[in-house]
Amino acid sequence: MTEPEILILPTSADATHAAARRIATALTEAVGARGVAHWVTTGGSTPGHIYRHLADAPLRETVPWDRIHLWWGDDRWVPPEDILSNALACWDLLLRDVPIPPNQIHVMPIGEALAAGDGPETVAARYATTLREAGLEIDAGGFPRLDVVLVGVGSDGHLLSVFPDSPTWDDPRWAQAVPAPTHIAPHVARVTLHPLVVAAARMVIAVILGPGKAAIVGEIFGPKHDVRRLPAQLARRAGAVWVLDEAAAAAVPPELRGTATG
Ligand code: 6PG
Repeated sequence: MTEPEILILPTSADATHAAARRIATALTEAVGARGVAHWVTTGGSTPGHIYRHLADAPLRETVPWDRIHLWWGDDRWVPPEDILSNALACWDLLLRDVPIPPNQIHVMPIGEALAAGDGPETVAARYATTLREAGLEIDAGGFPRLDVVLVGVGSDGHLLSVFPDSPTWDDPRWAQAVPAPTHIAPHVARVTLHPLVVAAARMVIAVILGPGKAAIVGEIFGPKHDVRRLPAQLARRAGAVWVLDEAAAAAVPPELRGTATG
């Protein structure tokens, strides 16, 4: 297995700042190479701090925002103004301050579906269609090659809304409805991209913070590789960078520590 870069910072503030710098650089390089950059962002508690760094000087001035397409790896089945919405934090903390053209902000259309009485399957199908219409290169496995995919990792080893032993693997649709998980909060239905979108991405950035993630990080970087049981191991690949604070990195094997610089 070719390992990812692993970047370990003393504090969570240092880690989110480093992650924002990596995202800014990756987006800028993708625009330089292909004219546009397709960025998939994530949910949970981690991206808020990253958004603030990207929205403030000096990083804000480094990214050609008018060339960025923004996508979500997953979102929760709640109205867009609900605190649980993965899109809400992005609107509040990033999109008010950076000029991504509205038609390049690809929110999962959950608010419209709720208003129309449609369900998560409808949103998943629409999102897959929108992604297909973006005309991205498709990899050998049939999945789109997005430029930068930001992921967090759950304490059970999930990424996106792909939980351990998820049935999404056996369904080739690029976006899928996920029933509300019972083992982990928040207990609401989701819409998620297919896990193999993470495998197909040009670059993956995984950001993991806090002592509550140390045990699962130790398992992810342990000897057993089983992406169906531990979906976050999809990001344990070449072309990925893991940004952790010391607390989350406590169980990273010594031989893997210190493989990257900020
Ligand atoms: C979600 C996610 C999910 C998240 C992880 C980590 O909607 O819940 O996108 O995959 O990234 O659960 O969440 P934290 O950043 O809160 O630890």
